[in-house]
Amino acid sequence: MSSAAIDFARQNQPRFLEELKALLRIPSISTLPDHNADTRHAAEILAAEMKRIGLKNVRLIETTHGGQAGHPLVYGEWLHAVGKPTVLCYGHYDVQPPDPLDEWLTPPFEPTERNGNLYARGAVDDKGQMYMHLKALESLFESGKGKLPLNVRVILEGEEEVGGEGIAAFVREHPEELKADFALVSDTEMFAPDLPTLCVGLRGMIYTEIEVRGAKTDLHSGMYGGAAPNPFVALAQIIAGLKDREGKILIPGFYDDVEVPSAEEKAAWKRLPFDEEHYREKEVGSPVLTGEAGHSVLERTWARPTLDVHGMPGGFTGAGAKTVIPARATAKVSMRLVPGMTPKKSFAQYMSFVESLTPKGVTVEVRMIHSGDPIVVGTDNPYVTAAKGAMREVFGKETVFVRGGGSIPIVGDFERHLKIPTVMMGFGLPDDNLHAPNEKFHIANFYRGIESVIRMFERLGG
Ligand code: BES
Ligand code: MN
Ligand code: MN
Repeated sequence: MSSAAIDFARQNQPRFLEELKALLRIPSISTLPDHNADTRHAAEILAAEMKRIGLKNVRLIETTHGGQAGHPLVYGEWLHAVGKPTVLCYGHYDVQPPDPLDEWLTPPFEPTERNGNLYARGAVDDKGQMYMHLKALESLFESGKGKLPLNVRVILEGEEEVGGEGIAAFVREHPEELKADFALVSDTEMFAPDLPTLCVGLRGMIYTEIEVRGAKTDLHSGMYGGAAPNPFVALAQIIAGLKDREGKILIPGFYDDVEVPSAEEKAAWKRLPFDEEHYREKEVGSPVLTGEAGHSVLERTWARPTLDVHGMPGGFTGAGAKTVIPARATAKVSMRLVPGMTPKKSFAQYMSFVESLTPKGVTVEVRMIHSGDPIVVGTDNPYVTAAKGAMREVFGKETVFVRGGGSIPIVGDFERHLKIPTVMMGFGLPDDNLHAPNEKFHIANFYRGIESVIRMFERLGG
């Protein structure tokens, strides 16, 4: 495999990596308001880079949701490849909070190379993968004397990790500004090291908060314990009622619309190189795996809905002891949805079930924080063919199709509002520690990702 663009990318690998490190030093944590300026700084750096490499009409697009200012989108384009297809490159520059900090071997915002990996928050999710697109475009611009083999629009968001409502509104309201033939998203994983992978399905989600209120104020638990309702106990009872001990979600009707993957797809999953014991011990690190009986791990994580609790803020959580009956208790509860399910219907079913589980003496409020639809994308299109061909050149292997258990809310909107297919070509690895301490990106995959994007675009333009 060779092309002038590939040669350029290979010669510039050290510089590309240093630039990525600079981006990773910016703590663009979208969910923490204290980091709003950092998040904007990341957007500005990316806009400057997009201009520098040759994209046109580069700008920040401000977003709002629920009346509040959001983090900006970054847009750029190059549309002078007459008669060639147009790709919409998508990525996100926001990252998850880095805590627990003391579990990082090196600080999350001081990118560090170790054993062929680059460790930093956002290394693989998604700054490193998003940056592959820009470096592939730079290589194509450089080798093509300022021209690209196909038309390109780039849209980057800074709110993916908090639900992506800003970009969703933009896609809904301005579909013509993102007009393209297909979208390219690099924000997923490879099934195994060296195994080129396209992700063809993602779960949707509803992220909620349950708030339980008891007494009008916090109370001394000795003076009032025995008479006053305890919202944490009530909340624990509600949560315990949502799922049985075998992992089945008890919300009435919750599974009614679940679409079962085809026999063909399930058979293909069985052929994937999956070692359940290795997964349990090395990836999860728990004595047993839990979840619904009668479904394989891949089915449970890709094609079955789930319900999880992320935290229960409120009450006394400091060191030591405080004898208090808190007046309020909250829980962050999310559900992953699979094709067939809709956030609206699932939320309604969940809300009325939570109400029915609420014990006497307390009141409950259920709030939706964000939601996104599940999605399955088609594989019978020239863009998937080009991606497979490109990865065959780079990895020397045939591509496998998988689904992902995670969510990228905008992918469903690309299909619904732009009416285009998405190719999810990701280069993360199963042990990259997304959202966890010691997130990393395998540096070889950063380079292979750049080369795969270059060859994919050259094939589509050729
Ligand atoms: N890149 C992930 C999603 C992902 C990870 C898909 C691995 C497939 C395989 C993305 O950044 C993410 O974490 N999304 C959130 C979305 C949510 C906050 C709406 C998620 O899945 O929790
Ligand atoms: Mn991501
Ligand atoms: Mn993420």
